[in-house]
Amino acid sequence: MQTLTNKRILLGVSGSIAAYKSAELVRLLRAAGAEVQVVLTRGGAEFITPLTLQALSGRPVHYRHLDPETEAAMGHIELARWADAILVAPASADFLARLAQGRADDLLASICLASETPLAVAPAMNQRMWSQPATRANVELLRRRGVRVFGPASGEQACGEVGEGRMLEPAELVACLGGLFESGVLQGLQVLVSAGPTREPIDPVRFLSNRSSGRMGYALARAAVEAGAAVTLVSGPVALAAPQRLRLVQVETAAEMYEAVMAAAPEADLYIGAAAVADYRPRRRLLDKLKKTATPLTLELEPTADILAAVAALEDGPFTVGFAAETTNVEDYARAKLRDKSLDLVVANRVGGAAGGFEAENNAAVALWAGGRKAFPLQSKDKLARELIRLIAERYHAQDTAQDP
Ligand code: CTP
Repeated sequence: MQTLTNKRILLGVSGSIAAYKSAELVRLLRAAGAEVQVVLTRGGAEFITPLTLQALSGRPVHYRHLDPETEAAMGHIELARWADAILVAPASADFLARLAQGRADDLLASICLASETPLAVAPAMNQRMWSQPATRANVELLRRRGVRVFGPASGEQACGEVGEGRMLEPAELVACLGGLFESGVLQGLQVLVSAGPTREPIDPVRFLSNRSSGRMGYALARAAVEAGAAVTLVSGPVALAAPQRLRLVQVETAAEMYEAVMAAAPEADLYIGAAAVADYRPRRRLLDKLKKTATPLTLELEPTADILAAVAALEDGPFTVGFAAETTNVEDYARAKLRDKSLDLVVANRVGGAAGGFEAENNAAVALWAGGRKAFPLQSKDKLARELIRLIAERYHAQDTAQDP
């Protein structure tokens, strides 16, 4: 289970012999789905090299004190904003003291001071340093300010003494960090979303397409990311900014969308087919521009493959959610799609009227599944997407539980 999917963790490493465990910690954080950005203090760099941490985190390691080069790439304020949580592990006695004083005398301390995201520390020091009244007072003060203190554990220490002050093991720290985040309704699941229109070329300059803006599909993809899923978004041509923290696959035609969706579907736990896929494409794609003549022109069209039905027909395939954009008899047609394409859920909406739908900012919808129905009033596509994701997760988990032996 990926407990930290999509989470951005800033890992601060200060000067303690336990810094050698930070390499394993970075590896486990990434395995749990997190993006990791490491900041080393001068003391930390005495125990582990930036290169090791850079190789494991896949990102440049920041370790100089507010140097112009680092600031130009990603300054301390941006790093503070980037993080969803900051973990200082190991946190030395000196670092805890500086944190308690609110100092900004190196990069890591400045980031901690500039950040409003949850901050956790994993103390690591000799047991006498840990039991000193000064250290205890600092830790108490930090706790009162809302800093989470993970550990320390007791046991044999690097200096040969036995007592409290050992840093928690990397796996324990990853588990503690997971507890900081309220887990989303799709935590750790792989979600595949298709969005936008497709374009079916007639000749090099013309195509057949439709009015889909892609907004609903993009909003669903963002809501799935927020809910903790690892998201792949297969998108037709739209005028929308690429959402963060997901894998975007851009396609143009229905055939390309089919390829991209079918390639990702076997890994997906859920498929949400929000794209307005062309049902027909020109039978012939002209290599040269079609010239105007005085006679009427007939375009011969052939059907495209139904992506949604193909995903729903996969053995061991994902939980499949379809959309039904209708102008009349909305619920009847939608129920027919649910049945005919063997979907797990269908979201129906009226298009072409004042009730939202294509190109609009707002949308109303009704979700249908075997034995159930839920209506959603007209609202922004972002809000509707969050509510739909909540319902989809509920239905997914209900089905999952029903299938458990
Ligand atoms: N869909 C698809 N592949 C196609 C056509 C449609 O995956 N070639 C999916 C859409 O992404 C949507 C659902 O099917 O989730 C319904 O699309 P819609 O155009 O409303 O329905 P159709 O199945 O095309 O039926 P009709 O046009 O007769 O309403």
